[in-house]
Amino acid sequence: MQENQYISLSPTTVVQANTFSKEAFGKDFAWGIAMAAFQNEGAWDKDGKGESIWDKFSHKKNKIKDQQNAKIACDFYHRFEEDILLAKSLNFNTFRFSIAWTRILPHGTGKVNQAGLEFYHQVIDCCLENGLEPYVTLYHWDLPQNLEDKGGWTNRDIIDWFSDYCEVVTREFAAKVKYWLVLNEPAGFTGLGYMTGYHAPGRLGMRNFLPAVHHVAMCQAEGGRIIRRNVPEAVIGTTFSCSFIEPFTDNENDKRAAKRIDALLNRLFLEPTLGLGYPVHELPFLQNMIKKYVHAGDMEKLAFDFDFIGVQNYFKLVVKSAFWIPYLKALEVKPKTRKIDNVTDLGWEVSPDGMYNILKQFGEYKDIKQIMVTENGAAFKDELIEGKINDSERIAFYQSYLQHILKAKQEGVNINGYLAWTLTDNFEWTEGYKPRFGLVHIDFKTQQRIVKESGRWFEEFLR
Ligand code: FCB
Repeated sequence: MQENQYISLSPTTVVQANTFSKEAFGKDFAWGIAMAAFQNEGAWDKDGKGESIWDKFSHKKNKIKDQQNAKIACDFYHRFEEDILLAKSLNFNTFRFSIAWTRILPHGTGKVNQAGLEFYHQVIDCCLENGLEPYVTLYHWDLPQNLEDKGGWTNRDIIDWFSDYCEVVTREFAAKVKYWLVLNEPAGFTGLGYMTGYHAPGRLGMRNFLPAVHHVAMCQAEGGRIIRRNVPEAVIGTTFSCSFIEPFTDNENDKRAAKRIDALLNRLFLEPTLGLGYPVHELPFLQNMIKKYVHAGDMEKLAFDFDFIGVQNYFKLVVKSAFWIPYLKALEVKPKTRKIDNVTDLGWEVSPDGMYNILKQFGEYKDIKQIMVTENGAAFKDELIEGKINDSERIAFYQSYLQHILKAKQEGVNINGYLAWTLTDNFEWTEGYKPRFGLVHIDFKTQQRIVKESGRWFEEFLR
């Protein structure tokens, strides 16, 4: 390719084609995949594992598309070695997975289940033996049901329950695991699980959402402190679901609506860790409503000095002002209404510029030391033809997002790694098995794995 020629896979011109290589990201850049216990492991009641809120929720009627469940999922519990080897064969060097709290403490607190610890020792050892750096997420949404029965995230006691769990896990794996992530997407699991009821445990309304928010934010910082104490060399992060928010028009009302949604989705859990408190300026209702749950001394405890922040981004959002919507007074303007048809199988707008913009936005916080993109990927309809899945849309997705990440990095945002979501097709929460996010296809009847062309693309790119 000639100098100054650009790859034009994305709507905006980004990095020069001749700089778009793995090397351009720097030699210490981490390249990996991310996955989660509930979505991959299966073996939901095996070897002493307790019931989680997602077990209970997905076994109820009409909660998951086509009444599917994750009792078996990708059977990672029995096939972890095959999957870790697959990740290695695609030339990744980082493997992010989560620990199921209910395998370690089946009732949430109390007696430790040795078989659970043993399973994760095997997973971690297998990663290390194969040159993959394990990144351990402590909490990816699968709260022990026993704790939910006592109020779950709405009960302040969860700060102690979560701390006990963190103590057990971090002490156990301190000698092997250096990289830790406290939570996966707190805005996601509090919003969907305790406000809209769309996810487990299926609770609704501000009176559930607000205490959950505050207790989750407290646990986020406390988890960080526990890792710091127990793992001397630890590199500690936590992850956030982030979407760049654009106002539908230049109208001041739309701009203010965009700011409110930005505060709710992107800033609510990040800013307390940075010592900035909750974003009450944009969300005045929060000030009075959350007060009730905040005890003396809490505001200081919300802060923790994370080594890195995990940005998880899939799409951007366009919003407009809507006075009839309670509290937020804002509404999303869906891609379809905007006549945008470049969307994934879940209707999410393919918007690499949104990735760039959110990275730049996070890059503005002076107290964020490093950023890692801890999740990014896309579900598309895959077709298996003669043993092959030629998922060119997914390849284009990854290329355009990576270019925009590189652009942000070249402009000075301190980004040190990228984790694709995800290695294999898996259980996509309430959407069941239909959305396929993997670089590797799974036939869920036989558990056979087939590397998609997107997986091959990474294999080449990372070679
Ligand atoms: C993220 C979740 C992850 C997965 C992807 C598609 O919000 O963290 O578990 O479901 O979306």
